[in-house]
Amino acid sequence: MRLSTLFGALFCASTALAGSSLHKRNVFNKARPMVEKRVANEPFRHPELQKRALRFLTDKTQEFAVNGSGIPEVPFDIGESYAGLLPISDSPDETRKLFFWFFPSTHPDCPKEVVIWLNGGPGCSSLSGLLTENGPFTWEAGTLAPVQNPYSWTNLTNMLWIEQPIGVGYTQGTPNITNEVELADEFRGFYKSFVDTFDTHSWKTYITGESYAGFYVPYIADGFIQANDTEYFNLAGISINDPIIGDDTVQQQVVILPYVEYWQNLMYLNDSFMERIREHDKFCNYTQYFETYFTFPPPPGPFPVLPDPFSTDSYTCDQFDNFYSAILAVNPCFNIYHITETCPHPYSQLGIINTGDYKPPNSQVYFNRTDVQEALHAVVGTNWLQCSDVNVFGDGNDTSSAQDSSVGPANNGVLQRVIEYTNNTIIGSGDLDMLLSTNGTLLAIQNMTWNGLQGLQEYPSTLLYAPDHPEYNGGSLAGSGYQGHWSHERGLTFYTAQLAGHELPGYTPGVAYRMLEILLGRIDNFSSKEPFTTQSGNFTGNSTLYKRSMEMEIEYPLL
Ligand SMILES: *[C@@H]1O[C@H](CO)[C@@H](O)[C@H](O)[C@H]1NC(C)=O
Ligand SMILES: *[C@@H]1O[C@H](CO)[C@@H](O)[C@H](O)[C@H]1NC(C)=O
Ligand SMILES: *[C@@H]1O[C@H](CO)[C@@H](O)[C@H](O)[C@H]1NC(C)=O
Ligand SMILES: *[C@@H]1O[C@H](CO)[C@@H](O)[C@H](O)[C@H]1NC(C)=O
Ligand SMILES: *[C@@H]1O[C@H](CO)[C@@H](O)[C@H](O)[C@H]1NC(C)=O
Ligand SMILES: *[C@@H]1O[C@H](CO)[C@@H](O)[C@H](O)[C@H]1NC(C)=O
Ligand SMILES: *[C@@H]1O[C@H](CO)[C@@H](O)[C@H](O)[C@H]1NC(C)=O
Ligand SMILES: *[C@@H]1O[C@H](CO)[C@@H](O)[C@H](O)[C@H]1NC(C)=O
Ligand SMILES: *[C@@H]1O[C@H](CO)[C@@H](O)[C@H](O)[C@H]1NC(C)=O
Ligand SMILES: *[C@@H]1O[C@H](CO)[C@@H](O)[C@H](O)[C@H]1NC(C)=O
Ligand SMILES: *[C@@H]1O[C@H](CO)[C@@H](O)[C@H](O)[C@H]1NC(C)=O
Ligand SMILES: *[C@@H]1O[C@H](CO)[C@@H](O)[C@H](O)[C@H]1NC(C)=O
Repeated sequence: MRLSTLFGALFCASTALAGSSLHKRNVFNKARPMVEKRVANEPFRHPELQKRALRFLTDKTQEFAVNGSGIPEVPFDIGESYAGLLPISDSPDETRKLFFWFFPSTHPDCPKEVVIWLNGGPGCSSLSGLLTENGPFTWEAGTLAPVQNPYSWTNLTNMLWIEQPIGVGYTQGTPNITNEVELADEFRGFYKSFVDTFDTHSWKTYITGESYAGFYVPYIADGFIQANDTEYFNLAGISINDPIIGDDTVQQQVVILPYVEYWQNLMYLNDSFMERIREHDKFCNYTQYFETYFTFPPPPGPFPVLPDPFSTDSYTCDQFDNFYSAILAVNPCFNIYHITETCPHPYSQLGIINTGDYKPPNSQVYFNRTDVQEALHAVVGTNWLQCSDVNVFGDGNDTSSAQDSSVGPANNGVLQRVIEYTNNTIIGSGDLDMLLSTNGTLLAIQNMTWNGLQGLQEYPSTLLYAPDHPEYNGGSLAGSGYQGHWSHERGLTFYTAQLAGHELPGYTPGVAYRMLEILLGRIDNFSSKEPFTTQSGNFTGNSTLYKRSMEMEIEYPLL
């Protein structure tokens, strides 16, 4: 699988309430009146939000102010926010502009800090993360309408979703960067415009993202460090989930056979196929490579680079796509981003990515709607795509990227510098992600040296705890209790979310929320059993889910 598909956030989890099977519909016929009553009695409102004056409204920011009760299809006030385009340099005739949507935190005591979120691609829009992962309202694939998101990251801090680089989404201008270092320069130019416009000088800045943003985030963070200018680029930490950070043969090909063997009870690949593919694996030296280098602590590096499986005509060693096509034959709706899915494929408001994905007749892509573009101060008529159809690296060769080189940020000093500068780097992984799997990311980390030692000395195995939280509506639910594993070594935290796919904050919002609390220094680590810092007490045994099963007397008809 080529890296051009490393975006975030298409096929997010549809929830039980939104499920369309007859079985589910009948079950919830009984539950629904109670759920609606609950929502009607206790609407999710931030008390602070009503009282407070618009904190960022100035002459300079006025043109970006978004009408919080005027967001198409969103039947509630999303509060104070600002959206629009800002130039990537202060040259008066600069035509290249990035698009942002900025949400001041609803937290009454939010410190002077900003968290940036980036989706990957390269070429995919970060508004997909806002709409399906960590924004104040979410509209998940397969659901009929947007809902308030009690796990919105704006609950904790000031959030800035940015479409970048030039060529993505609503951005303006012609792409002409050729690599990640130039991408970071472009980004810095934009961020300086932002800081000047919103007067956030010297605010702590955390950069977060997913997937191909495993490249973007470390490179931009390193760009902040190199700038040596904390008035504008005050880097405080980074977090990436399901990231590409190293050689794609290592991260995707070498680990795919053990991954499929682990999940074979879900894949049902037949014995003769498995026999053949195990032989391939040995022939391609993946089996030996995995046995040699996937150890904790690792053998001394550098780990050798394997031949590019796409460099020969036969593609024999492209185990990844060999598996993918075999799995699709068994389960035609297999979702490589979230492997437990079966048919049907839900439609996403973000639009389709691959020809053949399901698109209902007359459906409109949310961010491609005129009314949405007007509400967000985008250039009306922009042909918005979740993932750009132009090469965002212009016509150049992205020499610092894994697309044509084995040297990702984990293996060329970039990520190392960021970890050592901040001692606050968090890497996460959804166990149900097959595109960039947990052990593949760990294998790339084992070939990295930081703070004086190579790799992780132990496989991450401490239990990760996510607190319970009373959900406010049936559209956004999060699991609680032990939800994964974690470890911390020399400034780097690694964690897994066992029921998350690729778009981790969308699938396991409670785990992602806790991650953000740790990144911001408000909770010590993933073992903590403290409730979320934004809620007043523990809710053990009294969540909506508990109430649903114990008090609603749900029956399960034998459909
Ligand atoms: C915001 O949008 C709502 C809904 O369209 C509208 O009623 C209201 O007048 C708008 N407010 C402002 C300040 O434009
Ligand atoms: C991109 O174009 C701008 C002017 O349009 C120029 O200033 C800049 O140097 C170019 N960048 C690269 C990497 O070629
Ligand atoms: C960073 O800037 C400070 C003052 O602005 C200067 O003293 C210092 O040498 C600079 N460091 C580097 C690495 O450029
Ligand atoms: C990942 O590696 C660990 C440690 O070797 C192993 O226990 C686990 O089964 C592996 N998971 C998958 C999905 O391959
Ligand atoms: C596997 O490794 C052996 C020994 O290093 C080498 O001769 C062979 O060409 C490799 N196979 C492939 C497919 O790269
Ligand atoms: C391992 O890291 C070294 C740099 O330390 C790099 O040169 C090499 O390409 C990396 N190997 C792989 C397989 O990524
Ligand atoms: C987006 O809107 C434009 C018109 O502004 C239209 O030409 C295009 O087909 C739309 N794209 C999608 C994916 O719906
Ligand atoms: C990109 O690389 C190819 C071959 O590696 C080369 O032919 C081409 O000139 C390069 N393009 C640019 C813009 O550097
Ligand atoms: C980061 O942590 C390491 C220990 O792992 C320590 O030696 C180093 O001084 C710390 N660096 C910073 C900038 O705090
Ligand atoms: C988000 O903030 C609101 C208002 O402070 C609070 O009621 C809610 O519990 C918070 N959500 C979480 C997950 O803590
Ligand atoms: C919540 O529960 C945990 C574990 O039982 C406990 O450590 C913590 O103090 C509790 N917090 C509150 C606010 O009750
Ligand atoms: C949970 O709610 C029930 C009924 O509303 C109450 O009797 C019980 O004490 C509560 N449990 C806890 C742990 O708060």
